Amino acid sequence: MANYDVIIIGSGPGGYVCAIRCAQLGLKVACVEGRETLGGTCLNVGCIPSKALLHASHMLHEAEHNFAAMGLKGKSPTVDWKQMLAYKDDTIAQNTKGIEFLFKKNKIDWIKGWATIPAAGQVKVADTIHTASNIIIASGSEPAALPGVEIDEKTVVTSTGALELGKVPKHLAVIGAGVIGLELGSVYKRLGSKVTVVEYLDVVTPGMDGEVQKTFQRLLAKQGLNFIMGAAVQKVETTRSKATLTYKLRKDDSEHTLDADVVLVATGRRPYTDGLGLDALGIDTSPRGQIKVGKDWQTNIPGIYAIGDCIDGPMLAHKAEDEGMAAAEQVAGKHGHVNYGVIPGVIYTHPEVANVGETEESLKERGCSYKVGKFSFMGNGRAKANFAADGFVKILADKNSDRILGAHIIGPAAGDLIHEICVAMEFGASAEDLAMTCHAHPTYSEAVREAALACGDGPIHS
Ligand code: NAI
Repeated sequence: MANYDVIIIGSGPGGYVCAIRCAQLGLKVACVEGRETLGGTCLNVGCIPSKALLHASHMLHEAEHNFAAMGLKGKSPTVDWKQMLAYKDDTIAQNTKGIEFLFKKNKIDWIKGWATIPAAGQVKVADTIHTASNIIIASGSEPAALPGVEIDEKTVVTSTGALELGKVPKHLAVIGAGVIGLELGSVYKRLGSKVTVVEYLDVVTPGMDGEVQKTFQRLLAKQGLNFIMGAAVQKVETTRSKATLTYKLRKDDSEHTLDADVVLVATGRRPYTDGLGLDALGIDTSPRGQIKVGKDWQTNIPGIYAIGDCIDGPMLAHKAEDEGMAAAEQVAGKHGHVNYGVIPGVIYTHPEVANVGETEESLKERGCSYKVGKFSFMGNGRAKANFAADGFVKILADKNSDRILGAHIIGPAAGDLIHEICVAMEFGASAEDLAMTCHAHPTYSEAVREAALACGDGPIHS
């Protein structure tokens, strides 16, 4: 008789949500976590702490740039970096303790330590072997290494080190204009650093809607971020006080250097499965190290499942959460389901950027006929009042059926607005359905309705 119905390895958003759902479904559950606190990368060194710093630095930006125009006079606040880090740490603690509370409430055992899977049905932590009918691997991801660049988490940092620098750097060089690079680059720019982003491609945030990419880069450049595009970083050399980054421009192969106090390496993440014993078990993985799973998230070894960043798909906390809930239901004999066509993505810069579903590029590639409904926040009264009129909402709908295929928003509260479109897509709605839904005035969400109207007879305010 096994000790547990399910043992989950990892307590990030995939693992802890899965554990709670398993417990709700009446299963006896344990979750193995080697960190001091629950919550994984997202709560401890990722989504949550970065949002605290984005919020604080955005407040400073508002005070510096928009307060006077609203009649709020006086000296702008100065940065007490130690206090800002304490605020960030307090935010982390509140969240990680919250998960601990939820574990107790749901009678989930937290097995402290790092797990190995010696055989199906067994999880070894330190010298103890725990048995379980099912094992769910939710071990997450780690920053991908970049050849020629050695991370010390002081001068050359990943997102983890960037969230606890000793001081605000004079010059921060960011390698990679992806989500991490642009979110943390924004934070330090607002706190007073010079920020230079060095990106291999000619566009920021690869894979996003092309029009959004261009607008996004232009708005960030207006905020003072410097971009060196089409540049492949070759190496980073450090002395006691600075780092020198060498890059080659792809257009002419010319080599250049850049000096900075701190270099943030944000060139992607890779699955973290070290020490689990996957090879010995014979678990199939992809060349990129992702654990291969079937439609029920089961690996090739019966009774061993995997979810989240360590399998294929976007490395997003909410994608892992959805998989966690669905895998729990599979294990409990139900039918878990994830709609991979409706997974939103959000970048928490200012303005925010959000997307769901198809891009114009992906639709063209597949030869689909579609129409575009676009509305600028310049035509939204609330956005104008709040100094937030940069950006637009763009809805893509099937040319014949009017069914919504995707949406791309750059603008205020984009990360919240996108969910109205996610729900519409989940229900198979047409752009007209959205356009006929009454939206309260004055709200940012009216821009979504206007974009939906733009798929039909046209928006009112443009
Ligand atoms: P990313 O994949 O978003 O971007 C990496 C960028 O680095 C790419 O633009 C790539 O072209 C560039 N690059 C790669 N090698 C380079 C080189 N040698 N020289 C110059 N540029 C180079 O990766 P990122 O930003 O590190 O994020 C990792 C993961 O974490 C992503 O999957 C992301 O979705 C996730 N994440 C999500 C967040 C959110 O949803 N808000 C926040 C933070 C991370």
